[in-house]
This record gives sequence, C-alpha cells and structure tokens, in this order.
Amino acid sequence: MFVRNAWYVAAWDHEIGRNMLRRIMLDEPVVLFRTVDGKCVALEDRCCHRQAPLSMGKLVGNIVQCPYHGLQFDPSGKCVKIPSQDRIPPTAKVKAYPLVERNHWIWLWMGDPAKADPDLIEDFHWLDDPKWGFGGNYLHVEANYLLLVENLLDTTHLPFLHPESLGTDAFARSELEVTRDGDRIQVARWLMDKSPAPFHKQMGDFPDGMNVDRWQIAHFAPPSFVKLDVGSAPAGAGMRTANDRGSRWMNMWNLNAITPETEKTAHYFFAQAYNFKLDQKWISDMLRTQIRDIFLQDMTMVKAQQENMDLGPSPVVNLAQDKAWVAMRQIVDRLVKEEQQQAKAA
Ligand code: FES
Ligand SMILES: [Fe+2]
Repeated sequence: MFVRNAWYVAAWDHEIGRNMLRRIMLDEPVVLFRTVDGKCVALEDRCCHRQAPLSMGKLVGNIVQCPYHGLQFDPSGKCVKIPSQDRIPPTAKVKAYPLVERNHWIWLWMGDPAKADPDLIEDFHWLDDPKWGFGGNYLHVEANYLLLVENLLDTTHLPFLHPESLGTDAFARSELEVTRDGDRIQVARWLMDKSPAPFHKQMGDFPDGMNVDRWQIAHFAPPSFVKLDVGSAPAGAGMRTANDRGSRWMNMWNLNAITPETEKTAHYFFAQAYNFKLDQKWISDMLRTQIRDIFLQDMTMVKAQQENMDLGPSPVVNLAQDKAWVAMRQIVDRLVKEEQQQAKAA
C-alpha cells in the first residue's frame, strides 16, 4: 500500500528527452518525455485500447502514437486520432500526471490531481544552490521502499555494512536523539572526540592523528524522503552547540528520494551535496560513483531482507536503536489508512 496523494521523484531531469522513458511508479506504468518545446510530460504508459505500452511507440511532434494499432494521444492524455475510424469515444484517453521540474528532479503527483499543490514538494534546494556542489545518481532497489527508508534512518549499520568508508566501531554506540515534529522525524547521532571516518578524513583534510567531533542528523519526511546532515569538526571546536556548523566545518547533505515501483521494488534517487572545495569538479564525479558504490552495499542487504520476508512472516525484535523506524512505519501506515478512508467517504 502506498501514500498516493504525494509528490514523488520520477527521474533526474537529464534522463528525460525526446525519447520515451517508461517507469513504473506505485504500481502504475508511466511514460515520460519532453515536448518539442522541452516541457516534460508524464502519461500513463498503457494504451486505453488494449493496454500496449505507449513507450514502445513513436513520438511524432508532441503526439504519442501507440505501437499496436496506432491510436494517437496528445500531452494531456486525450486520444486525438484513431486510424480505423473517425469517431473518438470520450473515454479514449490515458491518465496525465501533474508534473513539476524542480531541483533537477522530475516530480509527479500520483494521487488526486485536484490536490497536487507544488508547495508540498519536499525541499531539496541544495541541488540548485551555488553554495553547494553535488554528485547524484540512481539505483534500482529490489526491495520494498520502506526497507530502504529504514536503512537510511539507521546509522548503527555503518560499521558493519560500510566499514571501509563510513563506519567506525564507535558509531554503533554513539549518542542517539530522536525527536518528532508532526510527521517529521529527526534522528541525531553525536560522536565526540574520535578518529574521523575514512571518508570524512579524506574530504575534510584532517591531519593524521587528529580526532574529530562528528554529527549525523537524519531528517525523515513522509512518505519516503531522508536527508542526512553529516559532518566533522576538529574535536573540541564547539560543533555540537554551534548553530552554523554547516557553514563552519566540512558538511555534506546526503539527499534521498525513494519512489515505490511495486510493493517489492523501488526507484532510488540520491545525491551527496558538499560545501567545500567547490571549484574542484572531481569531487562531484567522485561522489557520484563513490556514494553509489557505498549504497550498492545497502542494495544487497535490503534485497536479501526482502527475499527472506517473501518466505513468510517471522517475528522480529525491536531494539532501542529502532525507535525512529517504528515511528516512521506508523506515520506511513496512518497516512495510507487516512487516504483510504477519505477515498471511501468520497
Ligand atoms: S493497444 Fe494501443 S492502439 Fe490498440
Ligand atoms: Fe548504508
């Protein structure tokens, strides 16, 4: 079950051009393309005649032609031509999704179009802010999207799944603070006066032997966004109480938008934004691949979890570290139920 009245990321902006891209979102087939003027369009990728994928057809100007019997659809989803007859039934149309292009991502509203308010789009301004550079990428997830949200809210896995890049042994027991603001959850971890994680040492140019104070603050917003504010400052420099730690010390925002594909698969759009060495483009390129390689370790894990879950229900133990995930699942479950109740009442 999914929250449908929400904006989800469908693609990076550079993925969409004059070719048609098929992407399944929330169990619905979607085709994305740009009009001759460069405007991005998202239609249901399922012809209303016999369900052929329109993405296998042709784009003629701004018109999509079905590959099977040649029905043609305009960017609003309306059928404008049926080769075998003159009369076009009013029901001959495919769904057109409300779409906004923002922060290098293509956002689709998957629920009631009347409720599609662009102000509800989650803030990812780092991807458009000159004070930040970023490296971004995409991965296909072979697991339920919430397993990945859990993974991102959980830092206790770092020393085990990513020992060579992000984890230090001390991190599993670092001080944890979970706070809630409505349906938003914040999970803060503070690790004071410890040797830097290998990745932070490299990015922050910390000299050999210098200890750091490290922060990692995960911000969850429903249905499936996680933004991680991470950084390290020289130990004892006052990082924890500083309001402006992001501008004073080496800071990265790991930005994650997860879009359910089916109940057992998802699309994962992510970027690592950074506030240092902005003139050095190699950092964007390096982050693009390095973060993907780290996340591939997570992909292997969530896929393996999903395979076990598919074998049938089994009891699980919740630990103190799981407080944020439990709250996250309750929020998403509640939003899904509320939507279903509203749909029934309408
Ligand atoms: S299935 Fe599309 S025209 Fe027949
Ligand atoms: Fe991970």
